[in-house]
Amino acid sequence: MRVHPSILSADFTDLAAEVRRIPTADAVHVDVMDGHFVPNLTLGLPVVERLAQVSDLPLDCHLMVEAPDRWAPAYAEAGAAGVTFHAEAAAAPVRLARELRRLGARAAVALNPATPVEPWVDLLGEVDMVLLMTVEPGFGGQSFLDVVLPKVRRLRAAISAAGLPVAVQVDGGVSAETVGRAAEAGADVFVAGSAVYGAEDAAAAVEDLRTRAAAAAAGTAASAPSDRG
Ligand code: DX5
Ligand code: ZN
Repeated sequence: MRVHPSILSADFTDLAAEVRRIPTADAVHVDVMDGHFVPNLTLGLPVVERLAQVSDLPLDCHLMVEAPDRWAPAYAEAGAAGVTFHAEAAAAPVRLARELRRLGARAAVALNPATPVEPWVDLLGEVDMVLLMTVEPGFGGQSFLDVVLPKVRRLRAAISAAGLPVAVQVDGGVSAETVGRAAEAGADVFVAGSAVYGAEDAAAAVEDLRTRAAAAAAGTAASAPSDRG
């Protein structure tokens, strides 16, 4: 169970200090928005390059941009540990995922709430992670969309059936109240912006989310019918 706080909810004038608030995190989730793919504009390559230099944590870059085929490889070259592009925006997603991996990054594809996961089932071997948006992308602080949970379950089932080490990330509205439902459905990487940076003790909020996710997943395993007789 991994927790990736989103610095979208952090103080953009002091990002180095904001990253130091989350030593308990598994990675820093960096939301890159271009004002076209989503109606919001955040930060880009120069900021990611500096963050990669000052952060002790790996960077998980979520690109909400048009033409990721063109822009995403530079984030891998800038030192991002993982680069996520949107399925709705990529022209040649298999070629792009292979390029990101060739550059040494973990490749991931993100699906908006209304984007089906089924076309990706045969392509799971091409990615290290699938991000399922649990809000419409563009802004922090929105409410978790429970309607996405059946898609989380179908994705987890497809990954299990394929026997591949693909992570399932949920992003949007993840909080102490919702993280358990996402974990129970099969997510194992949790992005949280406002739930972490809105907390007085951001490091403790990260640990609390991880504990709740693990407890929910363990509950699922415990209640699943045993096949060992
Ligand atoms: C939304 C971003 C999310 C956002 C999550 O488009 O991709 O990463 O920061 O923020 P919360 O956790 O506040 O919903
Ligand atoms: Zn994000």
